[in-house]
Amino acid sequence: MPHGHHGAFELERIAAALEVEGQLTSGLTSEAIALCADRFATTGDTVRRVIDLGCGPGVGTALLAERFESATVVAVDGSAAMLARAEAIAARLGVADRVETRALDLDGDDLQALGTFDLAWAAMAIHHARDEVATLTNLRQLLLPHGLVCVLEREDATIVRLADDLGRPGIWDRLQAARRGRVSPSLPGASNAERYPAMLAAAGLEVVVSDTLSDTVTAPDDAPTHAFLRAQLRGSLRDLVGVADPADLDALRACVEATPVHPDGRWDGAAVTSSRKRFIARPARSRLPQACLGNGDASASLPTSLSSAGPSPSPSGTPQA
Ligand SMILES: C[S@@+](CC[C@H](N)C(=O)[O-])C[C@H]1O[C@@H](n2cnc3c(N)ncnc32)[C@H](O)[C@@H]1O
Repeated sequence: MPHGHHGAFELERIAAALEVEGQLTSGLTSEAIALCADRFATTGDTVRRVIDLGCGPGVGTALLAERFESATVVAVDGSAAMLARAEAIAARLGVADRVETRALDLDGDDLQALGTFDLAWAAMAIHHARDEVATLTNLRQLLLPHGLVCVLEREDATIVRLADDLGRPGIWDRLQAARRGRVSPSLPGASNAERYPAMLAAAGLEVVVSDTLSDTVTAPDDAPTHAFLRAQLRGSLRDLVGVADPADLDALRACVEATPVHPDGRWDGAAVTSSRKRFIARPARSRLPQACLGNGDASASLPTSLSSAGPSPSPSGTPQA
């Protein structure tokens, strides 16, 4: 950690949880990467350099390197623990020769020193910046004229449903209904995704895609995933006190406090639903120097209207079961 003030992200426990979350959401990440790739294919631009800002444990970094085969991916994070995982995953997947890690503080360090990029990727990262618009502006300044920024942020809380009904048939449906009824849902580790269009515009970026991705996967039965599920269910307990049926909450409390963590295979076969708000943006034309706006400006062929071109986006704001 270069500046030593992001302590929690140095903890192995947090890095492990983020790696689990990265794996559980890799379908969403791949879907978002694929749409960026489609856009570059449409304009005929080869992607040679990608920056993954706030790369965390690097699950997305490796997916970017796999998808953009002619690109080097520069993975930037303030946490040495995260970067070590990013390097390990890249090595495991055979893309380490095209992944460069950089320990940088996105609030303090000079990102411009990293050079220019075709794609600036920032998943669940911008909300950590002290000044989100300033960080988005920095990202815009890193872009080549045809470049794109892709920002993913949490749309709704992660939803965990165990296969076990804890002796209370229908408990997961009732907890989900109670969640929908909450007045102000708290989204751990995220800010309100609705603010991003305005922030992107303030940073000189024109949004070309704004939609929501959602996916439900069956969680693998391993210890790091069990720990992640338990933390998520503890978060649900906190959120739903005073909202859900107290008997359901008692059953959930007994489950998450049980020792060992997953007695009788209780955590096996859990379904995890995650959703992400996806924004893809390009440098706003009015801000581009005149030289970039000639016939060679690839961005000119992109549609100016907002689009929802993802394969299976759900309507923005729709709570996911
Ligand atoms: C929620 S994680 C997201 C990781 C990854 N992009 C993903 O989608 O799973 C946020 C990451 O941003 C990094 N981060 C937070 N604040 C930072 C800062 N000021 N400078 C550099 N990295 C920072 C953290 O270390 C952490 O790895």
